[in-house]
Amino acid sequence: MDMKFTLAPEPDDASREKGRLLFAAPVEFLKGVVAMNGMPPADRLEVCFAGRSNVGKSSLINALTNRKNLARASNTPGRTQEINFFTTTDGPYLVDLPGYGYAEAPVPVVRKWQELLKAYLSGRVNLRRVFVLIDARHGVKAVDEEILKLLDRSAVTFQAVLTKADKISKTEREKVIAQVMAALAKHPASHPELVVTSSEKGEGVEILRTIIATLE
Ligand code: GTP
Ligand code: MG
Repeated sequence: MDMKFTLAPEPDDASREKGRLLFAAPVEFLKGVVAMNGMPPADRLEVCFAGRSNVGKSSLINALTNRKNLARASNTPGRTQEINFFTTTDGPYLVDLPGYGYAEAPVPVVRKWQELLKAYLSGRVNLRRVFVLIDARHGVKAVDEEILKLLDRSAVTFQAVLTKADKISKTEREKVIAQVMAALAKHPASHPELVVTSSEKGEGVEILRTIIATLE
């Protein structure tokens, strides 16, 4: 299999409008979940945001929805400790996951998160796409690889999203894009288009809105 990775293209006008409309309509916090049996009914498509602690998952959800505080974002790694469900109007659930790889959390807590994360990523039937966020300053790390392998085994399509692109130079950007694409090429479950984002500056946010709004 020859996987050609590219940057996600700028959307055409019709798709861009779909993305705009989905996120112009109300998005509401539904519930925070700590166990599989607390999940809302799998009655619509779902996308989730996974990634290391502090990578910018909650900030990206806030940027997508134009809300400063819908998903909590903070300087304290490990802040999001539940699986948080948000409803869009007539669109998919948006799911903010607890960050992985947060070394300072107590071991039993980490184990519990990991188990819930695994159960969710491999067991949620309506999960249509997992956005795996990668910090543009760091690229794909060993702890990300573990999640990517799990997603390969679960046969859930994932799409890599670089975050905090405002924090790196143009040269660094080219380097990290190449590193991430090379890492992704080894994963059959990877969607072959990379999205580069900055929640701070708004880069890539329209593209991501469009991707979410046009999933089938
Ligand atoms: P956990 O819930 O702890 O796993 O973290 P998270 O992945 O939800 O990260 P969060 O959105 O809370 O962001 C972590 C920190 O990174 C915050 O201080 C954000 O302000 C900052 N941050 C997030 N996105 C960006 C970005 O695009 N650019 C810059 N410069 N900072 C960002
Ligand atoms: Mg968070």
